[in-house]
Amino acid sequence: DDDLVVLGIETSCDDTAAAVVRSSGEILSQVVSSQADLLARYGGVAPKMAEEAHSRVIDQVIQEALDKANVSETDLSAVAVTIGPGLSLCLRVGVRKARRIASSFNLPMVGIHHMEAHALVARLIERQLRFPFMALLISGGHNLLILAQDLGQYIQLGTTIDDAIGEAYDKTAKWLGLDMRRSGGPAIEELAREGDAESIKFSIPMKQHKDCNFSYAGLKTQVRLAIESRKINAEIPISCASSQDRSSRADIAASFQRVAVLHLEERCERAIEWALNIEPSIKHLVVSGGVASNEYVRARLGHVVKKHSLQLVCPPPSLCTDNGVMVAWTGIEHFRMGRFDPPPPADEPEDLM
Ligand code: KG4
Ligand code: ZN
Repeated sequence: DDDLVVLGIETSCDDTAAAVVRSSGEILSQVVSSQADLLARYGGVAPKMAEEAHSRVIDQVIQEALDKANVSETDLSAVAVTIGPGLSLCLRVGVRKARRIASSFNLPMVGIHHMEAHALVARLIERQLRFPFMALLISGGHNLLILAQDLGQYIQLGTTIDDAIGEAYDKTAKWLGLDMRRSGGPAIEELAREGDAESIKFSIPMKQHKDCNFSYAGLKTQVRLAIESRKINAEIPISCASSQDRSSRADIAASFQRVAVLHLEERCERAIEWALNIEPSIKHLVVSGGVASNEYVRARLGHVVKKHSLQLVCPPPSLCTDNGVMVAWTGIEHFRMGRFDPPPPADEPEDLM
């Protein structure tokens, strides 16, 4: 087979990530520098601040990825970089750096779609995963159900009409006074284990819409109202809450999570039935993106696919959240098919990058 070595660079949101991957599927290195501290201090992503944070660490993150992989730029077959979707100021930090490396070392470049990378990384970890397959991509900014027919050929079965599920996890965590030095998702998942998921009957979004789209804005509002009516004060961190206050917060976390995931289950179920009608050869549902690192999400969707004799493919958490490996791997998939750009000219002006 081919023996490619590709550097992947990801700066679309709040993580600066780079990795070196071989076409055999071997991950030679993986480096992620997170802005979680910044986010906690300022309570969200401000594009300008995120851009500066990426700029500060990008050189070091890439050097570390090359060093850990024990390769130099001259060993690379290509450079892959996320070109969207994402914050344009942030994307530019990665793209500029990728173009500089590619032009200095005369390397081809592959521009990568962030969501395609979340889906295709599943083919790195599960080598039996062939097209066509279905994918549920769940993160902070996106909620997508797709039918992947072939490389670059995707049918969108459903998307969110407002917020993504990760956004709902993050806001719920913030309103419950959870520790925001890491992202809200894992904090809710942990707290939900102590709570009673049946204690609050949040209604399942879009019950009356018989399609595969998602909505999380309404559930967010229901959660906010429940928090207000229980007089929970987010200014008091959960670590300082009384045991009664803590258990009330845990009940909300568990009840929120149950309904947030029920919504995923219902949409997946409908999408699978629909997709199997037009592509009976589908064998897999890929679940990827940050929220797919959640154990409860995995378990519930595991039941859904089982009913239809499909197999769930869920990358390990470090490959579900934003990372450079998925970018490098998707670069390999495209490069193999001849889809790449020539090295940028050496005298390219900075402002064109
Ligand atoms: O894919 P990702 O790293 O970045 C985006 O492309 O948005 O996803 C980040 C999202 C955040 O909303 C975070 O709270 C959520 O994934 N997340 C989780 C878990 N781990 C990360 N949500 C629920 N449970 C988790 N264990
Ligand atoms: Zn992502």
